[in-house]
Amino acid sequence: MIDLARVRADTPSCENLLHFNNAGASLMPTPVFDSVINHLNLEQQIGGYEAHAHAMDQVENFYHQMATLLNANTDEIAFIENATRAWDMAFYALPLKPGDRILTHESEYVSNYLALLQQAERRSLHIDLVPSDEQGQIDVNELQNRITDRTRVIALTHVPTQGGLVNPAEAVGKIAQEAGLIYILDGCQSVGQMPVDVQKIQCDVLSGTGRKFMRGPRGTGFLYVRKGLIEKLDPPFIDLHSAMWSSDDGFTFQPNAIRFENWESFYAGRIGLGKAAEYAMAIGLEPIEQRVTTLAASLRSNLNNLTGVRTTDQGSRQCGIVTFIKDGVSAQQMQSALHAQRMNVSTALFTSARLDFSRRSLPDVARASLHYFNDDEEIERFVQAVEQVN
Ligand SMILES: Cc1ncc(COP(=O)(O)O)c(C=O)c1O
Repeated sequence: MIDLARVRADTPSCENLLHFNNAGASLMPTPVFDSVINHLNLEQQIGGYEAHAHAMDQVENFYHQMATLLNANTDEIAFIENATRAWDMAFYALPLKPGDRILTHESEYVSNYLALLQQAERRSLHIDLVPSDEQGQIDVNELQNRITDRTRVIALTHVPTQGGLVNPAEAVGKIAQEAGLIYILDGCQSVGQMPVDVQKIQCDVLSGTGRKFMRGPRGTGFLYVRKGLIEKLDPPFIDLHSAMWSSDDGFTFQPNAIRFENWESFYAGRIGLGKAAEYAMAIGLEPIEQRVTTLAASLRSNLNNLTGVRTTDQGSRQCGIVTFIKDGVSAQQMQSALHAQRMNVSTALFTSARLDFSRRSLPDVARASLHYFNDDEEIERFVQAVEQVN
């Protein structure tokens, strides 16, 4: 059981703001916020390098907490400024040859898909799109059928940006493992709202961001790369932190996930993200998923009971993201009408979900994303507000 009074007290804006935009950027809990501010204060007082030296334990705590959260080792974790760059640092480092094939799904995140298109064109790679099953998630039988002797990679998004679907990451991991494929999982919207265990899922790479369900600061992200794979990856960028200038005409990359990092980064943010992982684990990822899923299911059914409103989420397993359409009201009109009443939601745009939305003939949709600190009273008020928007 989650102590709702306590987590809401740790989220002071709950008092006067209905925040259903946790998949956009969630609200930092006070201990996370304080850890960021304290470090910034220290930087101002004694200097940035000196603050780093002083707070070394807290900086290292990021690796420890993220590794514990994901069931990984600390040397498999990198701090990156966002999920997109984290994913890129692994993807662009893959040892792929012309003619190699990459399996993916229509729910793949737009920026990842753009990188797939760009690299397919530049490096003569093939993208194989695995169809959805009748529930809208990646069809694992079709995934299996599409593996050829040139297939090298499976790229999958665990929870897509455009809906409440949770892709069957573990079933895909089993297939990737058996076929000896590199499995890149985008965990940007799953980590923090459900247990994500890289050993259980058997992914080789996992990327994520701080600001969403992790409730960390903006401008933070993380990358996990499995130990045996790290040494085989050749990062697209290099600096004095990720590599050693080991001879006059040579260099060596760091042997661990540090090879994917930048020297300069947001130290206060790294400390804050470590704290956010600690905070989430203190609550428990299973109770978090249970509460988020229950709240979202209740919101979906209440919205579907309204005349002219329908939700558009797919998947046999669904999460805290609720997407919906109201007849005669665009997603943008819905967002601004709700915003005027201090209710935060986001939109999922056609241009960010082209393959998925064109197959389902969907326009832009409104996106409400709930977290464990949200409550039933907020859902009730929100549904009333949606009913009145026209
Ligand atoms: C599934 C998914 N992957 C990746 C990203 C990109 O995250 P970031 O903005 O931290 O790069 C998002 C952001 O919306 C997302 O929804």
